[in-house]
Amino acid sequence: MKILAIVGSLRKASYNLQLAEAAGTVLAKNHPDVEFEILDWADVPLMNQDIEHPAPEPVARVREKVKQADGIWLFSPEYNHFFPGTLKNLLDWLSRPVSESEGQVLRGKPFALAGASPGMSGTAHAQDHLVTMLSFLQADIMNAPRLAIPHIGQQMDGGKLSLSSSAPYLEKQAAAFVGFIERRQAL
Ligand code: FNR
Repeated sequence: MKILAIVGSLRKASYNLQLAEAAGTVLAKNHPDVEFEILDWADVPLMNQDIEHPAPEPVARVREKVKQADGIWLFSPEYNHFFPGTLKNLLDWLSRPVSESEGQVLRGKPFALAGASPGMSGTAHAQDHLVTMLSFLQADIMNAPRLAIPHIGQQMDGGKLSLSSSAPYLEKQAAAFVGFIERRQAL
């Protein structure tokens, strides 16, 4: 089983990137058969239909990575009670082409939602908006458990995520997502 993480922040010291890395560690420990990779998508251009065909190389590459994955684990920050516009841009590229024959790589794809923020909401608003968009794209969203970690600054140690109190929730979401994907594969 391949799980691909998409991190909605491009920031080098991103909390959400560090959370994705912690998820990789949890999978390696508790689910060693799972292959885990964090998608590199910083070079995806802004959506512009003038350059849509043929797909720019970074777009073709991320579409292929998503296509090959059995599940996508999203780790997104919240910007103004929404998910970042940069992530919307990536999902817009992944939402096309829309034809049955060419395939739309998000359709039917299992998704788990996670995020961390220094604020109180822990990215819950952003996740609600992700559900709206991903539902429209017919992704297969695992609605529970979601992981929204507030006050993430309290779980940092010298700039590094120590993930003390939230570690069991990350482990629970990892196990649930692996089970969710397995059940889909058994259908
Ligand atoms: C934020 N931040 C933020 N946090 C939050 O909990 N709710 C919000 O609505 C917002 N809005 C917001 C808008 C913009 C434009 C920025 C740049 C930031 C703060 C945000 O959670 C914080 O910067 C995190 O560190 C971003 O996540 P990464 O990059 O650490 O993963």
